[in-house]
Amino acid sequence: MSQIVFLNGKFLPVTEAKVSVLDRGFLFGDGVYEVIPSYSGVIFHLEDHIERLQQSLDAIHLPFEWSVDEWRDLFNNLLEKNNCKDADYGIYLQITRGSAPRSHYFPDKVEPTIFAMANPFPKLPKGAIENGFAAITADDIRWSWCYIKSITLLPNSFMMQNAYEQGAREAILIRDGYAIECGSSNLFIVKNGVLKTPPKSVHMLGGITREVIIMLAERNNWTLEVKEISEAELFTADEIWATSSTKELYPIVKLNNKAVGDGIPGQYAKRMLKLYREYKKEYIKGAK
Ligand code: PDD
Repeated sequence: MSQIVFLNGKFLPVTEAKVSVLDRGFLFGDGVYEVIPSYSGVIFHLEDHIERLQQSLDAIHLPFEWSVDEWRDLFNNLLEKNNCKDADYGIYLQITRGSAPRSHYFPDKVEPTIFAMANPFPKLPKGAIENGFAAITADDIRWSWCYIKSITLLPNSFMMQNAYEQGAREAILIRDGYAIECGSSNLFIVKNGVLKTPPKSVHMLGGITREVIIMLAERNNWTLEVKEISEAELFTADEIWATSSTKELYPIVKLNNKAVGDGIPGQYAKRMLKLYREYKKEYIKGAK
């Protein structure tokens, strides 16, 4: 069965979903997106994703607003039409300013392009979480408004491809001597039993997974610091984690070819993974 996607009010096979070449997403990268997990048909923290979506739309002056219930209906329909209710999927939602004659100025009247699809989560190699990943540091070459979940991901893609070509999975982005986040995830470190993550700022995408992990750390009385992490601190950390909706939490055990801590996933990563998985189960049960 061909994948069914949502485009501008219609559900249709992916091969029939077409967007104009004048779409500003295509010509200017003028749009925003979300990636929202669905576990056995339960959409995880939808309210938070929609709040962040609205923040992104408002930030780029794209006048569009739907209620959480309207989005929920659409996503439930999408999951149903693709028989996605029994497994885990990532819902990808993209909104661009729409199609108009090419001009750097925003068009006066234009209908936004709304696109959504549900994809299975990327499959990690067997034992990947148990063994951990390698990362490299990279100069953060993105623009100054990284709190917007903009579709303009060439810098992220470039930095991650560079990591990949050096045998690493993640790039940890450094701006002015501080570690901000990773190419497609947020950043945590553990040092002497203290969990640390950089504070939200315009230079970082405020991840929903990051918020869940902060909540779990607080709920379980962990010592947590939401504070800048210098590049130097990365290299003396006992543990480094990357977090995102599609990867949840994954331990980084090698940085620039040197072992992080003991070079294997640390005890805090293992404990947080367990807490995260229990919380997910609790969340799914509560929603059903
Ligand atoms: N990326 N930082 C960046 C730059 C990201 O692209 C992402 C997510 C995150 C984590 O956000 P969240 O926990 O809400 O997923 C942080 C998504 C998954 C992507 O681009 O596919």
